[in-house]
Amino acid sequence: MTNEALGVSPGRVNLIGEHTDYNDGFVLPIALDKTARIAATRGADGDVVTITSAQLGTSVVLDSLEPGERAWWGYVAGVVWALRESGHPIGAIDLALDSDVPLGGGLSSSAAIECATALALDQLAGLDLTPEQLADVAQAAENSFLGIPTGPMDQRASLWCEADHALLLDCRTLSARQVPFALPPELTLILVDTRSPHVLADGHYARRREACEAAASALGVAALRDITVAELPAALARLTDEEQVRRVRHVVTENARVLAAVAALEASDWSAVGTLLTASHVSMRDDYEITVPTVDLAVDVALASGALGSRMTGGGFGGTVIALMPTTGVDAFTASLADAYAAQGFDAPQVSTTRASAGGIALSLRG
Ligand code: GLA
Repeated sequence: MTNEALGVSPGRVNLIGEHTDYNDGFVLPIALDKTARIAATRGADGDVVTITSAQLGTSVVLDSLEPGERAWWGYVAGVVWALRESGHPIGAIDLALDSDVPLGGGLSSSAAIECATALALDQLAGLDLTPEQLADVAQAAENSFLGIPTGPMDQRASLWCEADHALLLDCRTLSARQVPFALPPELTLILVDTRSPHVLADGHYARRREACEAAASALGVAALRDITVAELPAALARLTDEEQVRRVRHVVTENARVLAAVAALEASDWSAVGTLLTASHVSMRDDYEITVPTVDLAVDVALASGALGSRMTGGGFGGTVIALMPTTGVDAFTASLADAYAAQGFDAPQVSTTRASAGGIALSLRG
């Protein structure tokens, strides 16, 4: 039993495997070197939940928790709700949120908050949840409390990733494997904030998911994961809906690219990794149709600047582009990108670098 607990959990960068998680497929995220932090202390009053945001400089006091409201505090309150729903007696609680994971960047700022909350409450209440239970509770906050139909990747990435490794997650079995991801000094993983915020709640995401489920049902499989690349031409020939053809082609080829990327990483074949990243982007652009001009421009400039590969990461329609860049080329790329964005009249992009960082932890602050 402790009086104050801190949960710290990172955002994630999905290296490859986009929109495959809700198709029971494969993903390969790393943890970002930016985190959400939740300090949890026991509250005084009944079941009242108080949530404070350092970024917003505001608080909310909740007498009861009802699913369905998509406010900033929902990512925190949803975890309290999910724990209570699964039988854990979380009473009055004060939760203070701080985060430096960029919002709307496709870097899972929401999962970072959910996981930090789950870790803090687990520690404070001495629940001793398993890594699987922590991830389930954090995902339930998003799916069932906020009502956002995301897949299982983000929370497991935030909780389970290890430094210098990517996490190969099988989204059907939810089993995970650590894959070494430590770049040699001559290569740098670049993040470009394209300054076009991605939004999951606006319906595009749900529509993509519905199209995949409809296609799986038309093809008589439980999920698109069940179709292999060898089976793809015959499967596509059976679909009458042209949109579904494109969506299925993306998901099936993307699953194969994830497994190929794991093999390439295990062989330290960075050139092959880069080729797969770029192929993933082309597939998201042409078949899944989730990229936007700012994103495509960043990828084009990265490739023209000598990147081994580049792609948008995350849910899409904006957010962040990653590039595997020779370290000697980073400055020239940054300058070229600024010029290219200015020429198009886009807001100035922000370039940073990252590495595979550690997943979430909980600390007891006062005994
Ligand atoms: C968002 C969702 C994830 C996943 C990605 C796309 O980040 O939260 O579950 O579907 O989009 O790969």
